[in-house]
Amino acid sequence: MKNKRSIFSLAVSSLLAAVVIAGCGTAGSPSGTGQPAEQPQAGQEGTQPSGEKKTLIMATSADYQPYEYHDLSSGKDEIVGFDIDIAKYIGQELGYEIQVNDMNFDGLVPSLQSKRADFVMAGMTPNPDRLKNVDFSEIYHEAKNTLVAKKDSQITKPEQLAGKKVAVQLGSIQETAAKDLAKTVEGLQITSLNRIGEIVEEVKTGRVDAAIIEDHVAKGFVAKNEALQFTTIQSEESNGTAVAFPKGSPLVEDFNQVLKKMKENGEMDKLINKWFGDGQ
Ligand code: ARG
Repeated sequence: MKNKRSIFSLAVSSLLAAVVIAGCGTAGSPSGTGQPAEQPQAGQEGTQPSGEKKTLIMATSADYQPYEYHDLSSGKDEIVGFDIDIAKYIGQELGYEIQVNDMNFDGLVPSLQSKRADFVMAGMTPNPDRLKNVDFSEIYHEAKNTLVAKKDSQITKPEQLAGKKVAVQLGSIQETAAKDLAKTVEGLQITSLNRIGEIVEEVKTGRVDAAIIEDHVAKGFVAKNEALQFTTIQSEESNGTAVAFPKGSPLVEDFNQVLKKMKENGEMDKLINKWFGDGQ
């Protein structure tokens, strides 16, 4: 599994997509020439030649429909979703262009620590561990963990995972949840993978018995896969979603102000409706 993972992450990183919102919007070749474009550097807001819009680099893991995913339907590869629309709105309000860089989820916090990105939006949940390394905005959405399994497996509860294999995203809070579960559920084996699509594939092919995936995302995958079902894991807490920044970033306040405005002026509800449909 280790080998497979490293080959996979190599493939993903060599496909690293960069999209400039409000620019030409073509992944991988922001200049549209096929040549590597001169990339703005994170953390250098305000250093662009005058007249040009300043650019912020947003890192994400675009495997997370409806938060962020590759949309190929127009014939070109565009990263779209709830988080992208919010970033776009914030960029407009604060006078920045946003460049979206796609990478594996477990590379997101390191990209902030090394200042290769100005912020991360990736359906990311603030937790004490992450707060040691990054700052977070206010929470702008909530999700719950679910168990995705084949319908005929009848797996609906974590207790049923004794002696079974569960897949989770590498570096996610679902991976932590699985590790916690393994302390009480005997013989639980964990497979950690980079991309959610790959995790769902493992469940479909039966290489694992179940996956732990957040409800809004699980819903979309299950709708496309007849043989699968998802069941919300009962728990008091839900997983908040917030924007992450390098520690001490002055952008936290600016983003919080726009997020607050979006909640007040109905923009947030409009986007929730657009991407989650049922007001969730
Ligand atoms: N909310 C979870 C976390 O913070 C999962 C987020 C996964 N996001 C993604 N774009 N794949 O760990």
